[in-house]
Amino acid sequence: MPNNAIYRLKDVGQTVTAQGFVAKVRDLGHLVFVDLRDRSGLLQLSFDADHPLKEEASQLKNESVIEVTGVLKERSNKNKEIPTGDIELLVKTLTVLSMAKTPPLMIQDDTDALEETRLKYRYLDLRRPVLQNLIRLRHDIMQATREYLNQADFLEIETPILNKSTPEGARDYVVPSRIYPDHFYALPQSPQMYKQLLMISGFEKYYQVAKCFRDEDLRRDRQPEFTQIDIEMAFAKEKDVMALAEGLVKHVFKKANQAFSDQPFDVLTYHQAMEVYGSDKPDRRFGLPLIECTELFKNNSLPLFKGKKVKAILVKEGAEKITRKLSDSWAEMINVYPETTLLVLKKEETLTGSIVKNLADDEIKGLIALGLETGDALMVVMAPDVYGPAGRLRLLMGEHFKLIDATTHDAFFVVDWPLYDYDHDAKRYVSMHHPFTAPKTLESLEDPGQALASAYDLVIDGHEVGGGSIRIHQKEVQETVFRHLGMDEKMIEEQFGFFVKAFDYGTPPHGGIAFGLDRLVMILGKTDNIRDVIAFPKTSSGQCLMSEAPGQISDHQKKELSLK
Ligand code: AMO
Repeated sequence: MPNNAIYRLKDVGQTVTAQGFVAKVRDLGHLVFVDLRDRSGLLQLSFDADHPLKEEASQLKNESVIEVTGVLKERSNKNKEIPTGDIELLVKTLTVLSMAKTPPLMIQDDTDALEETRLKYRYLDLRRPVLQNLIRLRHDIMQATREYLNQADFLEIETPILNKSTPEGARDYVVPSRIYPDHFYALPQSPQMYKQLLMISGFEKYYQVAKCFRDEDLRRDRQPEFTQIDIEMAFAKEKDVMALAEGLVKHVFKKANQAFSDQPFDVLTYHQAMEVYGSDKPDRRFGLPLIECTELFKNNSLPLFKGKKVKAILVKEGAEKITRKLSDSWAEMINVYPETTLLVLKKEETLTGSIVKNLADDEIKGLIALGLETGDALMVVMAPDVYGPAGRLRLLMGEHFKLIDATTHDAFFVVDWPLYDYDHDAKRYVSMHHPFTAPKTLESLEDPGQALASAYDLVIDGHEVGGGSIRIHQKEVQETVFRHLGMDEKMIEEQFGFFVKAFDYGTPPHGGIAFGLDRLVMILGKTDNIRDVIAFPKTSSGQCLMSEAPGQISDHQKKELSLK
């Protein structure tokens, strides 16, 4: 196995064999230099004027795989940019192990290749040092995780991939059964029920690096196939799981050599996060808090205000910076939220803005009292559900004004989640996390709309990196929750019968959490594209451009699977 980039000045005089890819050939006429690349880095090979292999070396195609033997010598022209820059290998023998065609993309960090080309030739894309480093970081994070959990006496246990389909949130990926026509397995959206069953099985502390599959709309930090660090603990309370999660994250950051505060993680309630940042996973590395203004306009009879909540963002010295063009572009982006209006008010001599002439004196006074001084701007967002558009606007503004300090990390928990959200179309409750999440108190189930969950999310730098909860461990409670979710006895039995039955035979109270490994690597690797941290990712439309999955299957296969 090559390890060509370990050699230094002290090794001069040694005879060594090196293998790797041809990264670059420089033919200076009297001399030929070849940069040899392996996973450890670059080593310069040199062929001098009357070297019998000089001609052959000058013809080497980039990315060909070669083996050379030679003597290490000190370079006359040193390169301070690379660790082996003081030396070179004076080649004696050269063997071409595999000749390469001209690659469709340049193997270097700064590539102008289209992402489509990069994904089609992913094995070449992965040769780029930047991706090599991210995949190595993923490995380091995984090892640090295992190290931490093993030390804390957790057992790594695998759970099945071919499962029964159960409604957990997203759409399932399904696999037809050959032996049972018209029957399907579902790929796990998460190992949720199995990890709970492992607690009922008496394992007490479990973890797994679990592949999960969700057929949902993809985003920059979402893949259809992703990896969770999945954890479950028996007899644990919220604070126990949160302490373990915090310890693990701090250990991983330390192992990845990234500065991270020693202070305990902040804990925000869901209510605070939504009110102040308009998001349940806020990026707190910059300010621009949302200011509550609904009360201020409670007597305003303009149709524009009817049934709307109002939030404002104060921008000190923003009057000049926020041009019409800029605010129009923000308005367009937040208008994807229903019935949203964005108003821009500026404090010059007086308060200006298209709405001002329609505002009462006390409304104008109230707005100025929010802290508006001459030269400031106030962005006012109105919508029936104002958190989405106001939170989005805050982020757009933070990005535009480059307020996010990317050199720091900000990690905190969000707790006290509502147990349910109400789905107005389906006219029923849906779980905010999943149906197995315990309510904070059993009494609260009498008023499901108000019930809070024993759930916690871990947010880092504006990403939801982990989520978990204390679970329901009493059969009656679980059945009550299923009923709130609109399931009758038959549905409960069909979909979850095997699971609730297990509660009959002694169930320790338990709770857990799952981290998105891919997201953790994104944050530590400072990339905002999840595909950069997965060796063979899918496109945003769920395809693998390299293997061309999903693909069609033969009529014979369809017949075997009883598919039409
Ligand atoms: P949840 O659905 O919150 O919880 O998922 C846990 C974490 O997994 C990551 N994640 C994803 N990462 C990439 N692509 C996706 N499509 C994707 N979906 C989720 C996120 C998220 O915080 N069973 C529960 C965990 C529990 O209760 O213990 C669960 O799956 O970082």
